[in-house]
Amino acid sequence: MRFIKAVLSCTLLVGMSVAHAAPKDPGAQSASPIPVIQAVLTSPPWVPPPTQRKQPAKVVVELEVIEKEMPISEGVSYTFWTFGGTVPGSFIRVRQGDTVEFHLKNHPSSKMPHNIDLHGVTGPGGGAASSFTAPGHQSRFTFKALNEGIYVYHCATAPVGMHVANGMYGLILVEPPQGLPKVDKEYYVMQGDFYTTGKYREKGLQPFDMEKAIDEKATYVLFNGAEGALTGEKAITAKVGETVRLYVGNGGPNLVSSFHVIGAIFDEVRYEGGTNVQKNVQTTLIPAGGAAVVTFKAKVPGSYVLVDHSLTRAFNKGALAILKINGEEDKSIYSGKEVDEVYLGDRAQPSLAAVTTATQAAAAGTLTKDEQIKAGQQLFAGTCSVCHQGNGAGLPGIFPPLAKSDFLLGDLRRTIGVVLNGMSGKVTVNGTEYNSVMPPMNQLNDDEVANILTYVTNSWGNTGNPVSAADVKKVRAAKGVAKAESAH
Ligand code: CU
Repeated sequence: MRFIKAVLSCTLLVGMSVAHAAPKDPGAQSASPIPVIQAVLTSPPWVPPPTQRKQPAKVVVELEVIEKEMPISEGVSYTFWTFGGTVPGSFIRVRQGDTVEFHLKNHPSSKMPHNIDLHGVTGPGGGAASSFTAPGHQSRFTFKALNEGIYVYHCATAPVGMHVANGMYGLILVEPPQGLPKVDKEYYVMQGDFYTTGKYREKGLQPFDMEKAIDEKATYVLFNGAEGALTGEKAITAKVGETVRLYVGNGGPNLVSSFHVIGAIFDEVRYEGGTNVQKNVQTTLIPAGGAAVVTFKAKVPGSYVLVDHSLTRAFNKGALAILKINGEEDKSIYSGKEVDEVYLGDRAQPSLAAVTTATQAAAAGTLTKDEQIKAGQQLFAGTCSVCHQGNGAGLPGIFPPLAKSDFLLGDLRRTIGVVLNGMSGKVTVNGTEYNSVMPPMNQLNDDEVANILTYVTNSWGNTGNPVSAADVKKVRAAKGVAKAESAH
């Protein structure tokens, strides 16, 4: 539905963009008889239509900086600074040789001054010095798009790293004079790293953490500014047989992206956004402040996961998105059977709303056992079910069962310790010996461990009292003491 709307609005805008708008300055018209066109700007993941122009034009771009609070993850919000109200900012599309009249507005509600440095500009600061704009003001500068390519733009107001970390970046495409080869689908995807005072997925409004940013210790690494911006209902789509072109940028401010689509090979990459084409690429490096254009044909239906192949960023900091390809199977290419959960974990779930509800209830002191169980069920699906299975039965001879497990239910403190610290070696569960490794799950916070264990101890025939975050905290603290003591 969202896509249909976008297509409709794009169609209208194409109609508008080919009409030659009346020049604003009669003097300029006599000096330069080129048409004046209002640029079509789109929000991610949409891309404006091709310019389809044989001649250069004067293109007027009007971009507004808006500072606004938006979700960064389920139950987590962040005060983003945006170009056009989105992260990344509006996509701008012009043609090589165009003269771009750039209007930068800074919304009156803004608290900070901002400016813009476009990497597609030839001139000091890329426009930064000419575009410094206080809240409630606007500025204007003009540049000629001399070089074709896909270019990052970003705010360059001090502290620059902070402005960029708050989401102030986007892409401008400068088409070659002959345009780009026609494709069926074009999408706009941009990676960025984010630094919050709270831990990953810690609920509530999270402020920016300058110290973490300086240390380059990202809390989140994201495509299009939010965890889940391009998954579930918001996944980008294509049909079997269609050619997909992704304009992939990296706003940084700090991290370099190893951009990869799991299960796809890029037929062509315009690496570093330049003119050369590299063919048959698995993973392409996108520097901070850089971009690439990747193109591939959709051949086999299913969910394709876009990741930064620095994989803990994908699976522990949010850097994943979905391209859903619909259509007929081709068993000669791939035998089939799709399981999203293999890669997606809890992001395959439609929503983690129950986790948010439980966290809020815990903070308010009203948390019920039922809320814990519901939250725990969602978290279990992403973290634990891979080995212990969705029905808690484990895998015979490999992973022990949790359903009616004497080991699990016998000593709850020990069980909390196993979740936090992991376990390896032999263990006997219900009379059967298992010898496998459980990795420590200490990335989970106390609330999450408590909710998962409340779910586990009250499912598949298990019955027990709720596990509290305080119980988990005690076990975690005891481990900390033990570590400190063993260090002496
Ligand atoms: Cu700024």
